[in-house]
Amino acid sequence: MENISKEAIVKRGEAVLMNTYKRDEKLLVSGKQAWVTADDGKDYLDFVSGIATNVLGHADEGLVEAITQQAKQLIHTSNLYWTLPGIELAEALVEVSGLAKVFFANSGTEANEGAIKLARKWGLEAKGESAVEIITMQQSFHGRTIASLTATGQKEMHHGFGPVVPGFNYVPFNDAQALKHALTSNTCAILLEVIQGEGGINLMSDAFIETVNQIQKEANVLILIDEIQTGMGRTGSMFAFQQTSLQPDIITLAKGLGGGVPIGAVLATEATARHFGLSAHGSTFGGNPLATAAGLYIVKAIKERDLLANVQQQSRYLVEKLTSLQQSFPVIKEIRGKGLLIGIELDVPVTEVIRLAYEQGLLVTSSKHNVLRILPPLTVTKREMDYFLTIFKSVLEKLSEKARQF
Ligand SMILES: Cc1ncc(COP(=O)(O)O)c(C=O)c1O
Repeated sequence: MENISKEAIVKRGEAVLMNTYKRDEKLLVSGKQAWVTADDGKDYLDFVSGIATNVLGHADEGLVEAITQQAKQLIHTSNLYWTLPGIELAEALVEVSGLAKVFFANSGTEANEGAIKLARKWGLEAKGESAVEIITMQQSFHGRTIASLTATGQKEMHHGFGPVVPGFNYVPFNDAQALKHALTSNTCAILLEVIQGEGGINLMSDAFIETVNQIQKEANVLILIDEIQTGMGRTGSMFAFQQTSLQPDIITLAKGLGGGVPIGAVLATEATARHFGLSAHGSTFGGNPLATAAGLYIVKAIKERDLLANVQQQSRYLVEKLTSLQQSFPVIKEIRGKGLLIGIELDVPVTEVIRLAYEQGLLVTSSKHNVLRILPPLTVTKREMDYFLTIFKSVLEKLSEKARQF
């Protein structure tokens, strides 16, 4: 492939694409497992994984084969007709989640829109027409379309897009008293992330989980868990809620579900799902054979390749090594997260860390300005972890060096 200069790439992209992303200037052209290659032939260890999406890394042979076979057979029909891959993926998701029914969407935000609609429909029919209020958490992230954006408890993201959707209340994450106070007879649902992925890798506390469980029992409200970032094995169990005592009425999925092929899903209990009757919700692409064949392959691969065990093992290794690095580098304030969703809080902005890592052949991203977010594929090996750790250590050394010079 012709090596295009970075100035030329930026110029061409900026001429035709809306300016909504701060992109790196490299042109990525191919990938294999945990590695991506730029047009200049340089390889990068990809610990971003399409932001927690490429659970099997890049160009996984089985996934490519599953998509190819399905594409040759049937890519898309519409939801006017039955097709098998969607049924099979729904069966597989029901089995691994313990929930009863599935609605397929195309992205995380769209899955959350579906969950919000379902919760409101349930509220109307189970509690009365004013039961439309949804409580969400400050620092949460649920997507960019208007209801999911409203649900996102980061007011700065709403700016410029008002009027946002009425009926949302926000409470500080892990503040049980605030949650109890926010509850009214009009509350139909509480929307939660077990680990806030975009909000800084913040874990839900046990005390807060207890309160949520108690409210669910006593107040007749639905518990919605957004597993878009934490789901599909990312935290070491198929879904993060499974490591807690939470019993969600609805969960939403996307990201890892298709291993890179766009797909989202709303999963609900029987009692909740029954409130989505004929024509209540829909999507042209949602659950099409191509996307669901990818999803089905992913669920099977996580089980058959024993990837949850790999996530747990690699996570233990990573956290142990990071914890010992922390002894020598006080710039590391805290290491938190679960499985392969690990946040490293630094007492400097992480942009410089990301840049230095990039120069040395490593892709990492942030969660908030001072938390480095580590998201390897679930297939990551110990060798790749060691490679990451070597580069990260060298980045920390460079930072310390710079700090000494000032
Ligand atoms: C927890 C969570 N919910 C929802 C979304 C939105 O997903 P999408 O970008 O696929 O719309 C994200 C994306 O980062 C997420 O992390």
